[in-house]
Amino acid sequence: MRAPTIAIDGPAGSGKSTVASSLAAALGLRHIDTGAMYRALTLKALNMGVPVQGRELLAQLAAETEITLEDGKVTLDGKDVTADIRSPEVDATVSAVAAHAGVRKVMVALQRELAKGGAVVEGRDIGTVVLPDADLKIFLTASPEERARRRHAEHVTRSGAQLDEVEKDIKERDALDTGREVSPLKPAEDAITIDSTGVPANEVVAAIMALLPSGREQ
Ligand code: CDP
Repeated sequence: MRAPTIAIDGPAGSGKSTVASSLAAALGLRHIDTGAMYRALTLKALNMGVPVQGRELLAQLAAETEITLEDGKVTLDGKDVTADIRSPEVDATVSAVAAHAGVRKVMVALQRELAKGGAVVEGRDIGTVVLPDADLKIFLTASPEERARRRHAEHVTRSGAQLDEVEKDIKERDALDTGREVSPLKPAEDAITIDSTGVPANEVVAAIMALLPSGREQ
């Protein structure tokens, strides 16, 4: 049977990465974290001093950049940047970089290539733009309070960020991602929305598995 493509979209802290990675492992599929790709490009732009408003420069930079995603490891031009792409500086600038059409064009082409042969792909525009023909589309949400709490728990171990700082970052990125002109964050018409507030990740994974056409979950 053809391996399925599963799109998981949703806002920051909705649990996409945890759910997408467990689901991919359970189904023997690749997990593609498209946010990590925008983060890697943002890190490169920050390191090179390219301004986040530099539409053409950033699109050119995207075309000249090699990003790989393998087993949870992210590389940027051959260097492991898995930890560096989660810095507060990247958090604060990634949505501005991702808002440029030229940047998205390059990323979307790469994402489609990676998803060939089946994958669990997570992001903001997977069901709407990247894989409009995905076998299953999930829009994962959670209350803003819970999303901030989850993200804060991750950040505390990494950077010691305060809950209110994390809440502010999430709010700002949500507003930019939802309000942008190109590929805004929104559920695809045929997406199934799952609210993960108060629901453990393994239960969300089980709920998604139950939505797969029969036989796929084996
Ligand atoms: O993990 P978190 O939900 O915080 O964010 P992420 O998935 O790592 O994505 C970081 C940022 O990349 C988002 O806030 C979006 O601005 C952008 N992004 C996007 O525009 N399109 C995607 N398919 C994935 C991420």
